[in-house]
Amino acid sequence: MRYRTLGSSDLEVSEISLGSWLTYSGGIEADQTRACTEAAFDAGINFFDTANVYGRGAAETAWGEILSAHPRDSYILATKVWGQMSDDPADKGLAPVQIARQIDASLARLKTDHVDLYQAHRFDPDVPIEDTVEALQKVVEQGKARYLGFSEWTPDQIRAGIEVAGPELFVSSQPQYSMLWQAPEAEVFGLCEANGIGQIVWSPLAQGVLTGKYRPGEPVPEGSRFASETMGVAREVVYSDAALEAVQRLAPIADGAGLTLPTLALAWVLRRGEVASAITGASRPEQVHANAAASGVELSDDVLAACDAALGDVPVTGQTLAPMAESGIKRR
Ligand SMILES: NC(=O)c1ccc[n+]([C@@H]2O[C@H](COP(=O)([O-])OP(=O)(O)OC[C@H]3O[C@@H](n4cnc5c(N)ncnc54)[C@H](OP(=O)(O)O)[C@@H]3O)[C@@H](O)[C@H]2O)c1
Repeated sequence: MRYRTLGSSDLEVSEISLGSWLTYSGGIEADQTRACTEAAFDAGINFFDTANVYGRGAAETAWGEILSAHPRDSYILATKVWGQMSDDPADKGLAPVQIARQIDASLARLKTDHVDLYQAHRFDPDVPIEDTVEALQKVVEQGKARYLGFSEWTPDQIRAGIEVAGPELFVSSQPQYSMLWQAPEAEVFGLCEANGIGQIVWSPLAQGVLTGKYRPGEPVPEGSRFASETMGVAREVVYSDAALEAVQRLAPIADGAGLTLPTLALAWVLRRGEVASAITGASRPEQVHANAAASGVELSDDVLAACDAALGDVPVTGQTLAPMAESGIKRR
């Protein structure tokens, strides 16, 4: 496993990391969650990404049990705040009172006194950006988080955040990024790089679509994410005939390069220096090991050109999950 520095921080994160979104919030059995997480340690993965909202605390609780058995300095832990945490409509967002409450709840579930990275899961257009930044800064001052990041902020929101916080405060951006969703390349990558902000990208395998397990015109295979009632919630984001057909065109390219499709897809994401880590999901420990093997794989210019041709215009016609809120940026 290779490691990259996350933005302007001193965090050295594994190129392949593990996320807990649909899987470890209850999508798979507890013993499989443990097996996947331990497989990550075995494979040299040191970076784990979760969120308060994943299973409304369930994913953090599951990892709190497992990760706390490892020395705290042997893993880099990231969580997020913003999502709806209960049926109370006010129990969400990035107001200072919510951030203060949610960081303590996350730390209690994760059985630790600090996270390495605390991320605003989305932008909150109902709270003045100055209030959000001050509240996040306070979390760092209190020693409850070492660094701050954001996820799926628009370029305007990123600029407003930097304007208020200065270029030092945020070290990471977490956008969706894969062969099937390339939008952040256009503006987010460059803007962030100029400000010391690294990318940790989510769903780099397009939720499994880029592994080739789903075939056009064939039933969804049993035991896969899109066969699951609880985990197939975001199917419309990546699962289209056009996407499945593009993946079929990628298969011979992977073959010709002596790679599996998941390795090709992850190495493709990691070809960009702006990307510090690809946050993968896994329902089985074998997947963790297979995905970890993509670290250090270099793709030739010929392979990259063949991928572009095979993908055609699929990436630009995709959709993203929970599109970034374009609505206004509230100021004090
Ligand atoms: N910031 C955000 O808004 C946001 C949003 C979404 C996700 N995320 C983060 O990104 C993480 C990863 O998201 P994701 O789970 O969608 O990532 P992904 O890596 O694109 O997809 C993971 C799924 O693909 C299948 N898979 C993975 N490796 C495989 C392999 N080698 N062979 C065959 N199938 C394989 C597994 O599903 P099956 O075995 O069930 O088919 C697995 O659960 C999340 O856990 C979370 O931390 C963040």
